[in-house]
Amino acid sequence: MCGIIGYIGKQNAIPLLINGLKKLEYRGYDSAGIAFLHAKKLEIRRCAGKIQVLESSIKNENLNSLIGIAHTRWATHGRPSEENAHPHQVNGIVVVHNGIIENYLDLKNKLKKKGHVFSSDTDTEVICHLISSYAEKGLDIKNATRQALKHLNGAYSLGIIAEKEPDKLIAVKNDSPLIVGLGNSEFFIASDVPAFLSHTKDVIILDNGEMAVITKKGVSISDINDKPLKKKTTTINWNPEMAEKNGYNHFMLKEIYEQPRAITDTIRGRFSLDQGNVNLEEFSIKKSALKKFKKIFLVACGTSWHAALVGKYMIESLAKISAEADIASEFRYRDPVIPKDSLVIVITQSGETADTLAAQREAKKHGAKVLSICNVIGSSSTREADSVFYTHSGPEIGVASTKAFTTQLVALYIFSIALAKEKGAIDSRRSKKLLNDLLFLPEKVENTFLLNDSIIKIAKKYFQVKDFLYLGRNLNYPIALEGALKLKEISYIHAEGYPAGEMKHGPIALIDNDMPVLVLVAKGKVRNKLLSNIEEVKARGGEVISIVEKKRYKSLSRSPNTIYIPAINQYLSTVLFSIPLQLLAYHIAVLRECDIDQPRNLAKSVTVE
Ligand code: F6R
Repeated sequence: MCGIIGYIGKQNAIPLLINGLKKLEYRGYDSAGIAFLHAKKLEIRRCAGKIQVLESSIKNENLNSLIGIAHTRWATHGRPSEENAHPHQVNGIVVVHNGIIENYLDLKNKLKKKGHVFSSDTDTEVICHLISSYAEKGLDIKNATRQALKHLNGAYSLGIIAEKEPDKLIAVKNDSPLIVGLGNSEFFIASDVPAFLSHTKDVIILDNGEMAVITKKGVSISDINDKPLKKKTTTINWNPEMAEKNGYNHFMLKEIYEQPRAITDTIRGRFSLDQGNVNLEEFSIKKSALKKFKKIFLVACGTSWHAALVGKYMIESLAKISAEADIASEFRYRDPVIPKDSLVIVITQSGETADTLAAQREAKKHGAKVLSICNVIGSSSTREADSVFYTHSGPEIGVASTKAFTTQLVALYIFSIALAKEKGAIDSRRSKKLLNDLLFLPEKVENTFLLNDSIIKIAKKYFQVKDFLYLGRNLNYPIALEGALKLKEISYIHAEGYPAGEMKHGPIALIDNDMPVLVLVAKGKVRNKLLSNIEEVKARGGEVISIVEKKRYKSLSRSPNTIYIPAINQYLSTVLFSIPLQLLAYHIAVLRECDIDQPRNLAKSVTVE
């Protein structure tokens, strides 16, 4: 769950690597480091803390280099410190690593017995020692690395340089992401595309077990047995500006405000209103095969799991197919019964979450078809799935997911309509109406932004409380969970999401005037029940914040503690309810002076178990 980057080419590598690292900082930010060859001599700089600290520490040195590797860390083995920061080095061989070497202790003990002396607590250092032990036997860096890889179990993407071979950058990928960027006589490796997006959009996506040897002249890719491989070049259609803050104080805020655009991009070309048909052209699962699925599993982690829960409600309500939403880390170990005629939908922004990938593989083992709803082109989940539904939200840098979540909801909505239509659960008239509602969604999201001032007032009133309760029902119960997760992850206030009907079965005991209760009041069959829940809270001296869906779409009125959002159908109301919750969490975190884009202990892609 770290970020790695490497460069070889004609420009000074150091600023390129530092700027690239800043784009990867969302992956981990407890320590950072850089290695490069300066006047043919290997130089390494590392420090605990953020990339800024590393940058300041080298800014007055006049350093120049045409090759280097760098790393931003999220600690797994060994506390965040200078000694544990990457790159690690043994005898002029330098490594940056993202992932976990599961058998590192065993390897470390064996190496120690042979006289190797370790200077860090990390699993990564064993890789340097192994490569160096083969290099000592006379192998070049490529072959020494190949031999070393044979000992490693676990997940790793690696960037390697060696003082003795100053014109080579080695990249290796196994279960952690690694992309090669192809510039003009210059090449990059990185955990994610934004790291080099301002230099090139042409990439090679490495698969597991592949190694790239990169010189200024080009890239050659082989498998671990040195069999040469031909790989296709993919062009990424993201703009470099998409990975910048563009005047916003935080990526999270920028990404909240990008949602109308992200939703528009996700729905573009997806349906025709003439027949009310959804376009799934790029799916390898044929539309006609959709009706054969008897059971749907939706599997994901964190925020994406909340989208999965909403997807369950959408699929059962629209397509009338039994659906289950599972947390990936539970699904993979709970021996799930997955009939062959099941569809497993994995939902993942990054496409690299370790538990989600393991659950996806478990589903394949059972012979189920897998659909990945994913935001990152060419990520592991998309490559292993039978079909992919891309959410075109653009790079999401803020650790707290916002636009990726609402576009997941939109993707699930469109897919549920396709499923419902193929199953004959809805007719063309209904699907046209449902799809037509989507066209109004981006504008209604814009309208919801008008509530920002009211939300700031509420944030100012409650930013010092210790606990929050979020209640919702039906499709908006998962949105209550998501609202609570947003608040706790960026403001560190304890918050719980609950299905409002469960309040009487326990949480009502918590209610007092120190704990605000936020209630999502949607239109429809549960509205009156939610209004009763509000009364129950008030009767016990609780403070209520209500977010209410207007029955009809009128201009948005404001009153303290009640926020009115535009009305839309029940499925899409999940998107509109999400927006004020994102803004509330954001403003509370600003008032509490929290580090919004890089909350403590978190990282964006959880590529380790
Ligand atoms: C929370 C958040 C996480 C992710 C989770 C899954 O704001 O972003 O809970 O949703 O780590 O990540 P992906 O979707 O990349 O699989």
